Amino acid sequence: MSNVLLECEGSIGWVVLNRPEKRNAMNPALNAEMLDVLDEVEADDSIEIMVLTGAGTAFSAGMDLKEYFHEIDSAPPARQRQVRREAYGWQYERLRMFPKPTIAMVNGWCFGGAFTPLVSCDLAIAAESATFGLSEVNWGIIPAGVVTRDLAAVLGYRTALDLIMTGRTFDGREAAAMGLVNSAVPAADLRAEVIALADRLRAKNPATLRAAKEAFKISHDMPWEQARDYLYAKLDQMRLHDTENGRQRGLEQFLDKQLRPGLTAVPREPPASL
Ligand code: COA
Repeated sequence: MSNVLLECEGSIGWVVLNRPEKRNAMNPALNAEMLDVLDEVEADDSIEIMVLTGAGTAFSAGMDLKEYFHEIDSAPPARQRQVRREAYGWQYERLRMFPKPTIAMVNGWCFGGAFTPLVSCDLAIAAESATFGLSEVNWGIIPAGVVTRDLAAVLGYRTALDLIMTGRTFDGREAAAMGLVNSAVPAADLRAEVIALADRLRAKNPATLRAAKEAFKISHDMPWEQARDYLYAKLDQMRLHDTENGRQRGLEQFLDKQLRPGLTAVPREPPASL
């Protein structure tokens, strides 16, 4: 693996897009590697939380304009389909429903196609100085793949059309204000903030956390009746997968008056580092 690094530290798996000389633009080789890295992170029981970030000055400058667009435009249709499938495969299909909590750590430039892995991550923290932009309109293309759909999921109508149609850049603070990321912090504090968030997530019951995020993402576009039925089914299914019996322990804590609003619910032994 050279285009992607996986660094394990405690129970965090740091997945680093690693083409700093190309501002981590996502070319076909990087996309293919990411599919393997995500399999590795899923299979490694020592990794509880995954953080996606970029090496150097960029989170990612988006799809590689040379290797993903220019060179692939003239490739045989089967190759074009494969290249798109691998990009879409990790950035949307695998990442959006990844079984472990995912955090995007936006350390720098974040353009175009990079919005898809950004939005696919469950949570996101940016450096205040990070620069975002949907520059596609400047290159004679539209935010394709599922970038436009991603925007519709996280931003309001006017904001999304402003970004899509003007291609203007904006910083981490504005990204937080519009809800594209959860928060923005000074670059020097970024890693510590991400670790603090990861520790908060690690204190939760993992089966509950997984079911909760899947339930939100899947029920998002469902009709209400269907959502109600699905969510009850999910609630029951979750108990089958929970080796820590979090529901039983959580309810007992409430009934024993150990747990009340304002107190921290910990139906799980806190990780050693807390
Ligand atoms: N695709 C392919 N190559 C890219 C790239 C992209 N999306 N973004 C950057 N690169 C390459 C540059 O071509 C350059 O390669 P070179 O050194 O071989 O000439 C290298 O990365 C460094 O880029 P440079 O522009 O010199 O870096 P910078 O720090 O001054 O600026 C950006 C960084 C991200 C602002 C700028 O590179 C940029 O605007 N990139 C395009 C981003 C974009 O529009 N993405 C949407 C794609 S759909």
